[in-house]
Amino acid sequence: MLKQTRYDSDRLYLRILKPRYAMEVLEYFKRNHSFLTQWEPKRQKNFYTLSYQKRQLSMEYSMYRDNSLARFWIYKKEDNRLIGNVCYSNIIMCNFKSCYLGYKLDKDEINKGYMTEAIKRTVEIMFEDFGLHRIEANVIPRNVRSLSVMKKLGFEKEGFSRRYLEINGKWEDHIHFAVYNDKI
Ligand SMILES: CC(C)(COP(=O)(O)OP(=O)(O)OC[C@H]1O[C@@H](n2cnc3c(N)ncnc32)[C@H](O)[C@@H]1OP(=O)(O)O)[C@@H](O)C(=O)NCCC(=O)NCCS
Repeated sequence: MLKQTRYDSDRLYLRILKPRYAMEVLEYFKRNHSFLTQWEPKRQKNFYTLSYQKRQLSMEYSMYRDNSLARFWIYKKEDNRLIGNVCYSNIIMCNFKSCYLGYKLDKDEINKGYMTEAIKRTVEIMFEDFGLHRIEANVIPRNVRSLSVMKKLGFEKEGFSRRYLEINGKWEDHIHFAVYNDKI
């Protein structure tokens, strides 16, 4: 289990959120609807409602307490504004100690190095505080910004799968990347 629900890096707060933050989360998804569409699964009709986001945060908080998921919501220290998240999901411990990584930012905040900073810090947290051995991320080959983030952070290219994930209604090829904790 993580030692705390609130961490930080140079310019960011990284926080595990409880359901009472659903309005901020909903506003984030609403203002980034068209920006995120091409990189995400098709959303249910009720995704853009407060009740859906409350339920989702509540479910994710239970999963956080069960050590199977940790979604860090990213806030800028400068104005305390929510600008995205980094999510470690499908966490399996035992002799695997591995999980998947997903991430998304706010359309108005890209290309400022925020995601690189957020992933760098949260990988450190998941390795040192949580005890993971490996983290895997999967990227569509045309997602140049995400590929650049993987490269800057030193994730290793491990493979390629055809028609791997259904994104915006289409089964998309993905490149697999992973980063390893050399201390365990
Ligand atoms: C992918 C994403 C998280 C990146 O966040 P970010 O904060 O902009 O990332 P960073 O600023 O740390 O790095 C972005 C890099 O992409 C580079 N980049 C941006 N546009 C580019 C382009 N058209 N061609 C090549 N490189 C480009 C930037 O120059 C920067 O690299 P640099 O620091 O070496 O200059 C953000 O774009 C996003 O939320 N996209 C939509 C959701 C998504 O794709 N999630 C990932 C799914 S795998």
